Amino acid sequence: PAPTAAELVDRLTRVQQDFPIPGILFRDLTPVLADPLALRTVASALIAQHGPIDLIAGLESRGFLLGAAAAVLAGTGVLAIRKPGKLPGDILAEDYTLEYGTARLELHPADVPTGSRVLVVDDLLATGGTAAAACRLLERAGAVVAGVAVVIELVDLDGRQALEGRPFSTVRQY
Ligand code: PRP
Ligand code: ADE
Ligand code: MG
Repeated sequence: PAPTAAELVDRLTRVQQDFPIPGILFRDLTPVLADPLALRTVASALIAQHGPIDLIAGLESRGFLLGAAAAVLAGTGVLAIRKPGKLPGDILAEDYTLEYGTARLELHPADVPTGSRVLVVDDLLATGGTAAAACRLLERAGAVVAGVAVVIELVDLDGRQALEGRPFSTVRQY
């Protein structure tokens, strides 16, 4: 039988201790992305657990790869939610904290049709700070967050709570 998305993530994810700083057990999905069956299976699992969507938002950097792959499968376009200073013109910005620091995300609101249903895609949910900031940006731009879809959820960090009830799905929990 064909392996499931969760099995492929389990088999292919690279686990690195003390990266990028001591005390962090880093889960690296690049081997999943590099494998053709795993990329397709995981990208389709990201969209399978959500209702109708108009757009996918990929979160820089690792969410860009998965978001674009999922958007092609879903037949939607993709929004780039970016790190600071990358988007020209009128932007919205949100600050947030993550497992190992603080950061900011930015969005072009002009790319978001009012009332559009947007699925937020990222590789991993840790504290939830990144995904929650993306949701706030999209909602400020007039979108409806149809859901947040990640490949890996680090359950001990309880990042779901930061999503404040927005629909959430994950392929694999650790
Ligand atoms: C990582 C990961 C998620 C985020 C999760 O991104 O790709 O986006 O952390 O952490 P959180 O739930 O605590 O916010 P990172 O900011 O390290 O950057 P990258 O995607 O550019 O590698
Ligand atoms: N982003 C935040 N925490 C992470 C972790 N433990 N592994 C990979 N990416 C992360
Ligand atoms: Mg990231």
